[in-house]
Amino acid sequence: MRMYDIILKKRNGQELTKEEIDFFVEGYTKGEIPDYQVSALLMAIYFNKMSKRETADLTMAMVNSGETIDLSEIEGIKVDKHSTGGVGDKTTLVLAPMVAACGVPVAKMSGRGLGHTGGTIDKLESIKGFSVEMTKKQFIDNVNKIKMAVGGQTADLAPADKKLYALRDVTATVDNVSLIASSIMSKKIAAGADAIVLDVKTGTGAFMKTLEDSFELAQEMVDIGTNVGRNTIAVISDMDQPLGYAVGNALEVKEAVETLKGHGPEDLLELCIVLGTQMLLLAGKAKTEEEARKMLQETITSGSAYEKFKEFVKAQGGDVSVIEDLELLPKAEHVIEVKSDREGYITKIVADQIGIAALILGAGRETKESSIDPAVGIVIKEKVGSYVKKGDVIAYLYANDLNKAKISEQKLLEAYHIEEKKPEERPLIFGIVTKDGIKRF
Ligand code: URA
Repeated sequence: MRMYDIILKKRNGQELTKEEIDFFVEGYTKGEIPDYQVSALLMAIYFNKMSKRETADLTMAMVNSGETIDLSEIEGIKVDKHSTGGVGDKTTLVLAPMVAACGVPVAKMSGRGLGHTGGTIDKLESIKGFSVEMTKKQFIDNVNKIKMAVGGQTADLAPADKKLYALRDVTATVDNVSLIASSIMSKKIAAGADAIVLDVKTGTGAFMKTLEDSFELAQEMVDIGTNVGRNTIAVISDMDQPLGYAVGNALEVKEAVETLKGHGPEDLLELCIVLGTQMLLLAGKAKTEEEARKMLQETITSGSAYEKFKEFVKAQGGDVSVIEDLELLPKAEHVIEVKSDREGYITKIVADQIGIAALILGAGRETKESSIDPAVGIVIKEKVGSYVKKGDVIAYLYANDLNKAKISEQKLLEAYHIEEKKPEERPLIFGIVTKDGIKRF
């Protein structure tokens, strides 16, 4: 078999066989096929797409490129949750302790941020001492003991995806349904959970900008999971403006803890309840959506989710006093008010531009090697639908470098669209995709 023939076949719009897909994934992982040939194939896939069968074969080739994790030593049905990536998306920090407090084991494999999207691990590491470094045994013991643990992706988990993702990132081939679906599902399948809840983001801050593309991505991932015996469902949620108000690592931890204590943003809590409901149903902990919602809400009012979060932070080496006194989180030197330059309704807050504005301050990485500043970021004051006057504060920049703050402020102002006409309300949840089909709300 020759890589040249595989590229030519896909370039001409033909379907690749399982053997051809296995050949390029294995050859690339081992370093036998060069980047330039795989780049050409990725671009051919981008334009000519892959069939459902090809996407499933690509997923399994990536699963088989490394180790798969056996979670059978964890008692109960293990449910994993994964977001396709967004801005201000601190869902895991709130959702995981809520679900764990209901008695469902959460064995979560999380990532770091890249580009305009943030990563759960970076956020958690803004808590002094917190670490995702642990042996497989410690990870399993923690889940058995306190019902939750968050680990990083090990080098051996779907290594083909790691290499391919890095290549896609620099060859403008990220936003393709088959490539995203296989990338996410290969990691989820290899990570060993029995059931998977996917949070598929849609809008300007998401990889999938349109609703139709988001539903297609969700359906593709649900099909892949279902076909390998993992109960998989996907929720389509809004990412046309940041989730909650805070964007930036320590700032997001603060907002997550406030949500666990019952005074966080409504959209964040509602999304956690919607996703958590599906997790509880899949785990067999609740029989109806109403029952699940009630159980989850109760973890907030009783304080059990907050206590669970503290237990989890302690178990992974973090300083719990930081959670008890949020003033101890890393703090930026300057807090700068950003004021509206006109009067009107906020009709749009382009989420990826807010992500970039936070990245400029140092909250994200320009390259994989750059380090991040946990203290910096943005706290939005006014969201879509608010009426503002010229000079009203619309957001705060938390900065350690005033030059960066200037550039970031410009980006932030560009992200805000302020117009005369009141915008239509956009829902937070657009639908749910299960193995039985699509339910649109
Ligand atoms: N997240 C992933 O893990 N992979 C993608 O391709 C996109 C988002």
